[in-house]
Amino acid sequence: MTNNLKYFIGNWKMFGDFGSFKIIHKINQYIYKNKKFNKSKIVLCVPNTLLDFFNKKLKSQLVSLGAQNCHQQEGYGAFTGSVSALMLKKMGAKYIILGHSENRSEGESYEIIKRKITSALKQKLNVIFCIGENYKEKKNGKTFTILRKQIKGSLEKRFNKNKILLAYEPVWSIGTNMIPKTNELRNTIKFIKNDIKFFFNTNKCPKILYGGSVNPKNIRLFSSITEIDGFLIGGASQSSKKFIDIIKNYYK
Ligand code: PGA
Repeated sequence: MTNNLKYFIGNWKMFGDFGSFKIIHKINQYIYKNKKFNKSKIVLCVPNTLLDFFNKKLKSQLVSLGAQNCHQQEGYGAFTGSVSALMLKKMGAKYIILGHSENRSEGESYEIIKRKITSALKQKLNVIFCIGENYKEKKNGKTFTILRKQIKGSLEKRFNKNKILLAYEPVWSIGTNMIPKTNELRNTIKFIKNDIKFFFNTNKCPKILYGGSVNPKNIRLFSSITEIDGFLIGGASQSSKKFIDIIKNYYK
C-alpha cells in the first residue's frame, strides 16, 4: 500500500451486473484525464459475480478491484454458497471489506472476523476493516469503548498493519444521510489512531477511513478533517457521476 494517498473506496453492496462496467470505465477515464488525482487511490468493491469480468476488462488500469466479504476458512472447504479469500484473489480482488456492520448484524462475531482477516492477509489482500458504534451505543456514550472492543476483538498484533485500512463507519450513519458532527468525528478518528498505534506498538498508523452517507455535497465537510485518510462510499459509488463528484469536490 502506498503512503500519503487519499483513498476513495466504493462499496457496491448487492448491486450491479456486467453492464455496470460502464460506471468503472467512466471513473477510470476521469482519473486518467485528470492527473492531479494521482494522489488518490481508487478502489471499487463489487459483488463476487463481477470481479473476474471487470478484472479482465480493467487490465493495467487505475482503478483497483475489491471484494466485500469472504468465508473464514482458508482455501477450499465444504461451505455451501461461500467464497474464500483465495478464490477472490484469483478473481482479481486486491482489497476486501471485512467486518462491515451489515455482516456483523447477521451474526459475524469478533473471532470470525479475526479469522477472515487472517485468511485475507495470507492472500496478501488489503483489508478494509470496518468498525463503528450503533445509535444506542452512541447515545449512551459508549462509542470509544465499542471501537476499542472491536479493534481488540478482531485484530492481532502480528497482523501486517501495512495491509490494513480501518474504516470508521458509525452504524447509524450508513445509508441514513446522517453524518457525525465535524468535531466529534475528528476526535473519534484521533482516538482510533492513538488506539491502533498503541495496539500495534508503532508510530506509523494504518490508514483510517470514514464511511457513512458520504456524498458529493457533504464531502467538503469531511475534507477539512485532515486526519481522515479516505472514504468508504456505499450508495453514492453506484453512480459514476456521484463518485467522481465526491473526488472532485474533495480537492476543490
Ligand atoms: P453509505 O454506505 O455510503 O450508503 O452510507 C457506506 C457503507 O456501507 O460502506
